[in-house]
Amino acid sequence: VHSHLEENVRPYIDVIDTLRSVGIQKDLALPTIVVIGDQSSGKSSVLEALSGVALPRGSGIVTRCPLELRLKKVTGVNWKAVLTYRPASQQARGQAAWSTRNERRFEFVDPSLVGGYVVKAQNELAGSGVGISNNLITLEVMSPGVCDLTLIDLPGIARVPLNGQPDDIGEQIKRLIIKFIKKKETINLVVVPCNIDIATTEALKMAQEVDPEGKRTLAILTKPDLIDKGTEKSALAIINNNVIPLRKGYIMVKCRGQQQIDDDIPLEEAAQMERDFFLNHDYFRCLLDEDKATIKCLAIKLTQELVDHIKKSLPELDEQVKKHLWDTRNELKECEGGPPQDPKGAKHFLTQTLKRFNDQINSLSSGELILEGNL
Ligand code: GDP
Ligand code: NA
Ligand code: MG
Repeated sequence: VHSHLEENVRPYIDVIDTLRSVGIQKDLALPTIVVIGDQSSGKSSVLEALSGVALPRGSGIVTRCPLELRLKKVTGVNWKAVLTYRPASQQARGQAAWSTRNERRFEFVDPSLVGGYVVKAQNELAGSGVGISNNLITLEVMSPGVCDLTLIDLPGIARVPLNGQPDDIGEQIKRLIIKFIKKKETINLVVVPCNIDIATTEALKMAQEVDPEGKRTLAILTKPDLIDKGTEKSALAIINNNVIPLRKGYIMVKCRGQQQIDDDIPLEEAAQMERDFFLNHDYFRCLLDEDKATIKCLAIKLTQELVDHIKKSLPELDEQVKKHLWDTRNELKECEGGPPQDPKGAKHFLTQTLKRFNDQINSLSSGELILEGNL
């Protein structure tokens, strides 16, 4: 079943990643999976378990820029990653989004370097303090061991500003999150720990605001091992969609706790421990058979959701591409062919050309025109 799924998934993901790599998301909204939740709800843990990529983690605000994690299953190669971002100053100078000039690009084959590169990029984009930035960091990971997914990790929702953070840091982060999750082309993954009152979760409320029907919201319940004794049945009621119904439902996962991270428990071993946890759990065992538990189940479900989503978006993407092509052809028509042969047409062409040239000179001298190599 799984290899069949992968075969069908690959081409769609490729289309999206290719379009994204030429910067077309400036013009076309592309489907993406966005991860949101409170600080320390377990977002990085879920991403890490899905991707095998060890992202920076810790208490407080660790993720300070949106991070796009593109996972590509490539067989016959060793693990390899490319991290790219563009410092804000270059973006402000009006460079085309797809321009690779001044782009920072780091290629590496040692998975343990990810954290350091991400922190370095964040420091350049958002300062070395506790501020946040809207600028995207992209991390592409190619490995036989990942599934084909593109995910965006966002800063966690802060309740109380840290020392050195502006008073409105919570609002800043919410605005950043809304910017991503309001796009109807995103699948919103809301990460909620089992050991809090799920109904009051800010991230779930935000997802519901932008997606009232829950068509593109999937909730992930984390830390089931830390659930308060006696509240297991209410967690089951939530998972079974009886409390806050979501069309795409809930999945429960158990990731590595801090102790297991400190003990360097490998992810494969953690996956086995996760399965054992559910197999031996009096209340949550049933979730295994219902495909409502484990990271593995989440990965399969996510990939399928993404493919369905892309399939649905394709007709609209096609329309938008056609419109762009049409506009571009019209612009091209005005430029090509050279001067008309008849005297009247030639004179008109000459005055138009001179006028355009003149306009360019004027805007140059007033400093408006940004050189893009066409003069
Ligand atoms: P983020 O701030 O949302 O990215 O949260 P993290 O992924 O950094 O997790 C915060 C803390 O919760 C870390 O110490 C994790 O080890 C721990 N954690 C995450 N998931 C689980 C889980 O399923 N069980 C337990 N016991 N701890 C978890
Ligand atoms: Na954290
Ligand atoms: Mg995190």
